[in-house]
Amino acid sequence: MSRIAYVDGRYVPLGEPAIAIQDRGYQFADGVYEVIPVLGGRLVDAPRHLRRLERSLGELRIPAPLSGGALSVVMAEVLRRNRVRDGLLYLQISRGVARREHPFPARARPVLVVTARPGPGFPEDLDAWAVAAITHPDQRWARCDIKSIALLPNVLARQAAREAGAYEAILLDGAGMVTEGAASTVWVVDAAGVLRTRPLDWAILPGCTREALLACLAESNLAFAERAVSVEELRTAREIFLTSATSYVRPVIRLDGAPVGEGKVGPVARALHALLRRALVGEEAG
Ligand code: PDD
Repeated sequence: MSRIAYVDGRYVPLGEPAIAIQDRGYQFADGVYEVIPVLGGRLVDAPRHLRRLERSLGELRIPAPLSGGALSVVMAEVLRRNRVRDGLLYLQISRGVARREHPFPARARPVLVVTARPGPGFPEDLDAWAVAAITHPDQRWARCDIKSIALLPNVLARQAAREAGAYEAILLDGAGMVTEGAASTVWVVDAAGVLRTRPLDWAILPGCTREALLACLAESNLAFAERAVSVEELRTAREIFLTSATSYVRPVIRLDGAPVGEGKVGPVARALHALLRRALVGEEAG
């Protein structure tokens, strides 16, 4: 079955050329995106992702291409046409097509692209889901709170991770503080046993999985602080894990080639994985 994409009002085969040469997404990375998990044929936490999308568009003054209702219809149709049960939905909006000039064009109409693809579903075996990570300098711009399609520093960081035999690059700012992963939120259980993640600022994306997990944490009695982590604290952490729409809770058991804590999945990652599973998948699964 060939995959089908929604591109600016039409459903087209994924492999077919469908974007104009002068699309500002293509020429300037002038656009935003979202990745929404799909479990059991349903979008997970769609309102949260769509709120963030609206915020990203607002920060860049790109008008919404469709009403919320029309967008929901398109997303459901893309899932249906691609028969995705578990996987992800990708949504991208560029400022539109116009003669190449840096300032905003006077009359461009935003271009929406929606695709969907199958993926692994909610991870049941957390030990098998664990990964290695490297540390890497954060070379991105100063507005990482916007989910912009300009991802070249993230691409380079993830490639560095891959070349080191790792999955994620944990990014460090100029002061040696962890910002986030190249495509995930970073969480640490520090040497004192406190679960920590960086507070929201312009240096990180406000993760939807982060927000969902924070809501779960409110019901747990885990010691937790929204406080940035230094590279020294990262190296002495008992546990490190990542969250994202595609990683859910993903333990990091090796950092820069050395074991994290005991070098295996820790109890806090396990507890949070169970809480997130209950929040996203529901009680009945498992
Ligand atoms: N990335 N930080 C960055 C830089 C990210 O790219 C992502 C997600 C996150 C986690 O956000 P969320 O929990 O909403 O997925 C944090 C997606 C999955 C991607 O680019 O593929």
